Amino acid sequence: MASMLPLLLLLIIGAVLLLLLHRRSRQRRLRVPPGSLGLPFVGETLQLVSAYKSENPEPFIDERVKRYGPIFTTHVLGEPTVFSTDPEVNRFVLMNEGKLFECSYPASICNLLGKHSLVLMKGSLHKRMHSLTMSFANSAIIKDHLLLDIDRLIRLNFDSWSHRVLLLEEAKKITFELTLKQLISFDPNEWTESLRKEYVLVIEGFFTLPFPLFSSTYRRAIKARTKVAEALTLIVRQRRKESMVGEKKNDMLGALLASGYHFSDEEIVDFMLALLVAGYETTSTTMTFAVKFLTENPLALAHLKEEHDQIRAKKSSSDAPLEWTDYKSMAFTQCVVNETLRIANIIGGIFRKTMTDINIKGYTIPKGWRIIASFRAVHLNPDHYEDARTFNPWRWQSNSEATSPGNLYTPFGGGPRLCPGYELARVVLSVFLHRIVTRYSWIPAEEDKLVFFPTTRTQKRYPIIVKRREEPIPSKLP
Ligand SMILES: *[C@@H]1O[C@H](CO)[C@@H](O)[C@H](O)[C@H]1NC(C)=O
Repeated sequence: MASMLPLLLLLIIGAVLLLLLHRRSRQRRLRVPPGSLGLPFVGETLQLVSAYKSENPEPFIDERVKRYGPIFTTHVLGEPTVFSTDPEVNRFVLMNEGKLFECSYPASICNLLGKHSLVLMKGSLHKRMHSLTMSFANSAIIKDHLLLDIDRLIRLNFDSWSHRVLLLEEAKKITFELTLKQLISFDPNEWTESLRKEYVLVIEGFFTLPFPLFSSTYRRAIKARTKVAEALTLIVRQRRKESMVGEKKNDMLGALLASGYHFSDEEIVDFMLALLVAGYETTSTTMTFAVKFLTENPLALAHLKEEHDQIRAKKSSSDAPLEWTDYKSMAFTQCVVNETLRIANIIGGIFRKTMTDINIKGYTIPKGWRIIASFRAVHLNPDHYEDARTFNPWRWQSNSEATSPGNLYTPFGGGPRLCPGYELARVVLSVFLHRIVTRYSWIPAEEDKLVFFPTTRTQKRYPIIVKRREEPIPSKLP
């Protein structure tokens, strides 16, 4: 028995070598994009992670683009991966969703989001659900229905601010409350706040190894997900009962229940749970970044203030609600929003898997490979944007087609998986900026910096010292 062992080992090693050789020769035959697969198993994951943990992750891509060109091969997060920094290739990937490419997210994310979430749905079901979500967040609905709540909830949150605030934390509270309001018509209370605490744990689990045995963060995340799902299930059941007696609420859950698709509780809960992640994390981080970039660019901030003071000047009081026409008049704000998303796109790129061998730009990407279409690399490429790594909202004011910065710009993705909340996100960001610049002036309380891994955020949650701009005139003492 013992003498068999060396033989067995030899056989295994031989088989592995053969497999590797076969893979290598197939790759040579296919002319995959140039690059390096790095070390066995880990590939270049460590380099990627350490770059994205820093304030300036660009060198990881820059170095490889310089050496290999705009499309290169690497090996990250457990798989050989083609990185595209080429806007044409990225567009090709977006437009051939479901035909040549399909979503391929790390297992931890899939498990935590649930299989009925919009990002993991495929085919015709995805198409139906995507358009249902889009139709719920379209501009007519925002205008007639959501804007008022957005404005009200943002003001309500500001009322509790005093002196020093952790802006990222506050922004997250705001977007969580807004998203819950839009999904299930709940106003903020203790229940929503405890649900949010669980959510934080779920999101922390996104970029962990999906093995409960090894990662306590992942274990905690799975537990929190169960709690959130249970809480949402109760709501869904309650609402089913109400809808039986003809009560209808004008929110996302109402739209799902009235859609005629007969979803199960589990399907609805997965779907809403994931939308809550989508609405919560990305918009709040963008809000915080916008404020940070503006703070570091006093000229831009002054210009923005002027735009919003003008809107306020037409109102009877500082509390008078914003209207759709006000939103539509915020021209410079839109430049600030676009520029913030360009510089720090929260979803820096998308993960896809090839469904067949793909021939593109003289290369072949083998079937089953992962491709990361990096929007961030396009948005920060000096060939596409002048002084690409500087925050300059004015660049969006030039509206000549040829130099339009919008041509290569995909902060919300595109094609069949275009972010269904893109318009809503813009409105939320604009209203938030309106309220913060008209109510407060602020200074950073500490130095803080951006990091991009595991999620995009600022290291210290951006602490600021706020001061009300116009102190109310003190009433005379008797
Ligand atoms: C902002 O970007 C969008 C594309 O996402 C574009 O349609 C819009 O015109 C841009 N806004 C400005 C002010 O340039």
